[in-house]
Amino acid sequence: MRTTPSPQSVWSRRHQWARRSAPVAITLVVALFVGCAKDPDEGTPQPMPAPQLPATLASYALPTLPAHFNSAALQAFESTPSDNPITDAGATLGRVLFYDKNLSATRAVSCGSCHHQDHGFADTRKKSKGHTGLSTRRNASHIVNQFYTRRQFWDLRANTLEDQVLMPLQDTVEMGMTLAQVNMRVEGLPYYPLLFEEAFGDSTITSDRIARAVAQFVRSIVSYRTRFDEGEANGFVDYTPMELAGKALFFSQETRCNQCHMTANFFTPGSLNNALDVDYADNGVGERTGDPADNGKFKVPSLRNVEVTGPYMHDGRFLTLEEVVEHYNSGLKPHAYIDDRLTTDMTIGGTPYQLGLTTYEKQALVAFLKTLTDLPLMADPRFSDPFMP
Ligand code: HEC
Ligand code: HEC
Repeated sequence: MRTTPSPQSVWSRRHQWARRSAPVAITLVVALFVGCAKDPDEGTPQPMPAPQLPATLASYALPTLPAHFNSAALQAFESTPSDNPITDAGATLGRVLFYDKNLSATRAVSCGSCHHQDHGFADTRKKSKGHTGLSTRRNASHIVNQFYTRRQFWDLRANTLEDQVLMPLQDTVEMGMTLAQVNMRVEGLPYYPLLFEEAFGDSTITSDRIARAVAQFVRSIVSYRTRFDEGEANGFVDYTPMELAGKALFFSQETRCNQCHMTANFFTPGSLNNALDVDYADNGVGERTGDPADNGKFKVPSLRNVEVTGPYMHDGRFLTLEEVVEHYNSGLKPHAYIDDRLTTDMTIGGTPYQLGLTTYEKQALVAFLKTLTDLPLMADPRFSDPFMP
């Protein structure tokens, strides 16, 4: 069993460390470069500023969620493994790793370069730029409320968040490292030994610990403070007539939006085909499984923060929510495996529905989607970049 250091000892050690940190950082980074021919970076290392962390550990425990989250449908999909519960020290380490550009080969990008807090942890670019400036294949997912989803990525290729977080590090476009190189970089930075010790009881740095810490941090990013959540508690008294009209449409038998964007998390824990193309250039889950019935199936993202997570869909094809709503209104494409909920006769592969919404109804749907924005989450200092205070 590890012992948790007292807040006082953490506080005083941090301060001690802060006084020494600048010269230590320079010496260690220089030593790393002289000593290790295998480091992928050819340029002159720029010592990172030390991360600015609160004097006492911030709390990352999952909050007590409002009553409308207490559905069996939602709780069945909680993803926290029993061997990696969130701890404050673990998530704090995860936060530093998440924002540390030293973890990419050219030191140009961190996880936070493609998952921006002020955009609900999505990217405003259709495709993100990796460590050498090359584009990613798909649109960057937002990473909010992953504590409800086990499988990760648009095509669900990672089985757990713990598996997922090591993949961008090793992706040649995204961060371009090997896990051995990541460990070497982390070992060479003066601020990590103490953070690992606090999180795991000793300062040993391993890929498994990196994965656990980053997964704890990502899993702690929970959205539950939107106007919709307030509305669930107060009977939607603060909604405008237009937002109420949009809400009614979203939950209607006509649009069936809520039949795929389900529960308080507005998601489906799996993948579906939402009729974007007759022939998909990227078949998503089908490409991975080889089963034609999976063609065009993609993870159904939570719609929380959708006002700021655009562009939309796995390829970022729609720039605005108006375009998304027009897709469902009049743009559904026939497909052998179109989801039954998007058809006139409720059969898989059936005729795509045409909603024929009025201009007001389309505006109303967009207005409702904008009530899912979680401003406190996007301003929460626990999830911000500690290298840029
Ligand atoms: C260069 C941009 C880039 C960087 C850097 C990056 N990501 Fe991503 N991230 C993406 C893209 C693009 C996707 C979608 C890829 C796909 O599904 O094929 C994604 C998907 C994800 C997902 C899946 C979310 C879901 O709902 O399935 C998670 C979680 C995630 N990233 C976390 C991270 C973490 C943690 C790091 C750092 C270790 C990181 N990302 C670094 C671009 C990036
Ligand atoms: C058959 C299930 C289904 C129905 C019904 C459905 N959606 Fe979706 N929705 C999806 C899937 C699957 C995706 C992701 C597809 C992709 O990226 O290729 C998605 C994506 C979205 C996105 C983009 C999210 C993002 O982060 O990129 C929005 C916004 C959206 N849907 C809104 C709606 C609205 C509004 C309705 C009702 C008019 C609706 N959806 C009905 C399955 C559905």
